Amino acid sequence: MAKILITGGAGFIASHITDKYINLGHRAVIIDNLATGFRRNINKKAKFYKADIRDKNAVEKIFKKERPEIVNHHAAIAEVVKSLRDPIPTYQTNVLGTANVLVAGGLVKIKKFIFSSTGGAIYGQPDKIPADEKTPAIPLSPYGLSKLLGEEMIKFYSRVYGFNYLIFRYPNVYGPRQNPKGEAGVVAIFGGLMKSGLQPKIYGNGTKTRDYVYIDDIVNANIITLKKCVNEIINLGSGQETSDKKIFNLTAKAVNFQGKPVFSPARKGEVYRIAISGEKAQKKLGWKAKTDVETGIKKTIEKL
Ligand SMILES: NC(=O)c1ccc[n+]([C@@H]2O[C@H](COP(=O)([O-])OP(=O)(O)OC[C@H]3O[C@@H](n4cnc5c(N)ncnc54)[C@H](O)[C@@H]3O)[C@@H](O)[C@H]2O)c1
Repeated sequence: MAKILITGGAGFIASHITDKYINLGHRAVIIDNLATGFRRNINKKAKFYKADIRDKNAVEKIFKKERPEIVNHHAAIAEVVKSLRDPIPTYQTNVLGTANVLVAGGLVKIKKFIFSSTGGAIYGQPDKIPADEKTPAIPLSPYGLSKLLGEEMIKFYSRVYGFNYLIFRYPNVYGPRQNPKGEAGVVAIFGGLMKSGLQPKIYGNGTKTRDYVYIDDIVNANIITLKKCVNEIINLGSGQETSDKKIFNLTAKAVNFQGKPVFSPARKGEVYRIAISGEKAQKKLGWKAKTDVETGIKKTIEKL
């Protein structure tokens, strides 16, 4: 069993990963500044440090004390529109913060670094959908760029310090604990509004598409990679496009909401259509997105 340091472990995705690591008998240490995460998400068996990854000294101190074998790095500002409006905070956390975590990990000789990159925002608007990992990375937002820079730093520090890495490019992940107050996480946002009888807003005409993968499938990939696969970039996609309109309809069905959406102009910097291929994940990890969108939305709404 390993000691795993998880950044962002009070947030949506990494809190689920932490729960599963602990269930499997691993020891978990969390760093999170609670910017968008919540204390209620933190597993009671994890050791929690309320700290900011932008603080080099704090990060180094925690790493020297805890000496983790594996780092699973999820702390980030994960909002495309926010990054377009005011890019510097996104770079400070997602680029400089990631550098602090990498250097601290190198100092204590970690064995593996797992990273949550993005498939939805790194490829820009690809010609071919679903996009595979060979698709050129041409991000349209500072958020997408910050993740690409993070990937490059991981490869660099892997060479410098000799640790292995696994970079996951996530699709649109959804499920319980996703923050309905954020700008991402359309199922949580729609579901939250519909439950309160309010009309959700769709940016564009409803035909914009995304690749939706349920949280349990994403957690599963983060488990498999503890034992399998090193030094790769892997999309965790279903390969399927789902439109905003379809997400609206499925969420309305799960909530039993009768209202209609409000349509608003599309937002700049957001891609129009995207889905990412899961073929490499299947080949290298034996991973596949198993939960269909209708079932995943039902499960999400039940816990909202
Ligand atoms: N949700 C998705 O669909 C999706 C898609 C692609 C990639 N990702 C990536 O997955 C990761 C987790 O996303 P999420 O949806 O769970 O978001 P989230 O906002 O719920 O989680 C991010 C966590 O990082 C913490 N954090 C932010 N800045 C920090 C800092 N400076 N120091 C310490 N902690 C900090 C937050 O408090 C929060 O708990 C992010 O890196 C995100 O970019 C998510």
